[in-house]
Amino acid sequence: MTTGPTKTPERAALTRAAEHAFAWLDGLDARSVATTATLEEMRARLGRPLAAQGVAPVQVIDDLVADVEGGILGSQSGRFFGWVIGGGLPAAMAADWLTTAWDQNAGIHACGPAASVVEEVAAGWLKDLFGLPDQTSVGFVTGTQMAHATCLAAARHAVLRDGGWDVEAKGLAGAPPIRILANADRHGSVDRAVRFMGLGSDNIVPLPMDEAGCVAPEGLRAALAEDGGPTIVVLQAGELNRGAFDPFGKLAPMARAAGAWTHVDGAFGLWARATPTHRGLAEGIELCDSWTTDAHKYLNVPYDSGLAFVRDAQAHRAAMTLATSYLPAGGAARDQIDWNPEFSRRARGFALYAALRELGREGVADLVDRTCRYAQAITAGIGALAGAEVVTSSHLNQGLVRFLSPQAGATEADHDARTDQVIAAINAGGEALFGGVTFRGRRCMRVSACNWRTTEADVARTVEAVRVALTANS
Ligand SMILES: Cc1ncc(COP(=O)(O)O)c(C=O)c1O
Repeated sequence: MTTGPTKTPERAALTRAAEHAFAWLDGLDARSVATTATLEEMRARLGRPLAAQGVAPVQVIDDLVADVEGGILGSQSGRFFGWVIGGGLPAAMAADWLTTAWDQNAGIHACGPAASVVEEVAAGWLKDLFGLPDQTSVGFVTGTQMAHATCLAAARHAVLRDGGWDVEAKGLAGAPPIRILANADRHGSVDRAVRFMGLGSDNIVPLPMDEAGCVAPEGLRAALAEDGGPTIVVLQAGELNRGAFDPFGKLAPMARAAGAWTHVDGAFGLWARATPTHRGLAEGIELCDSWTTDAHKYLNVPYDSGLAFVRDAQAHRAAMTLATSYLPAGGAARDQIDWNPEFSRRARGFALYAALRELGREGVADLVDRTCRYAQAITAGIGALAGAEVVTSSHLNQGLVRFLSPQAGATEADHDARTDQVIAAINAGGEALFGGVTFRGRRCMRVSACNWRTTEADVARTVEAVRVALTANS
């Protein structure tokens, strides 16, 4: 390989950025997982006036790194259990750097042939890992939020098409209203996508659920029996608090028989399909019509990387495609614009492809199995501490605990306040980071593990950090 001039501004800036990146990554174990700078500090440091004259690239990078000190969340740390975020695998991060250097516009094949083919190949691998139908089409989007929008656009197309209405040409005005029968514990991004698609959040009908937070088959049967016109059923694989999975094998055939489309939010739960140990949790999921997941969560691909899978590729394409005279059509090649809501876009498939190659099938399975074990061990370890209790522990990578007020005659409100106080103390300690949630009316701390960096030692260190926070604040 030939190398360019030794000291171009871009070489100097990229080298410096790499040095800063290594310093950041190497320091993860010793740094506070939580941020330490205040909002005011961030604004004061970064909010300089935009100068008339530009600044040398290396200086820009050095200043940026100095200015953001304390304002970068340690979500790459193995002791980050806050939201479902995940870190960056080495090959995925490196491929992401190359993606920036190559700077392809991955909107169509002609603007970046390799970017198009890498998605094609990764789509095949993913369908195989998840056991989705062969004909399924795939969109590589920013995250599950936009994957929901993409899948619901396809669903909207199909359920109206089946009633003789072309939504792409005629729009929604005058169309039969679409009702959305959804798991009542769904993630808010579903409702947002429903709004984006013009379906209206008032048309979401929450489905009755069982004790475990799963849609009850008899509830769906009753809802489908009411003549509600075109219908989309929204289920989930991996609920945020309990990691619950709907009984797809029972629900999807019912929906299909009623002419409804079944969409699944599998933001992190779809990865259960990639391991024999957890595959059974998502039994029958392949019978549904569309699925979303994130690579930036469980697969540890750097942000942003989400996936939309659609069984009815024709509906998917009809909802997304665009042809203009100035864009060459790919012919036999895959044009991403046929499957994605964006026009110009980042070639985000490279990082995902690299992550899958780095791990292989066994590595993906191990990542899921290991982080599930860690979430369960942390939940149980915290639950065993004096003044703490387990609220729920899941078969997947989520758990809930809470902290009890030591006051005599403490009320639920006291336990809620105590839980928030202990979460704040743990995070302020910097050893580990968790988030809070109100679950069934009670404040809880969420335990969420999906980072490839987490080790047994991190688990022990985390439980100890919680013990210290509890003791220091008793
Ligand atoms: C269950 C679930 N669905 C959807 C989303 C939204 O995903 P994204 O942030 O990638 O858009 C999340 C995010 O945490 C989630 O946990």
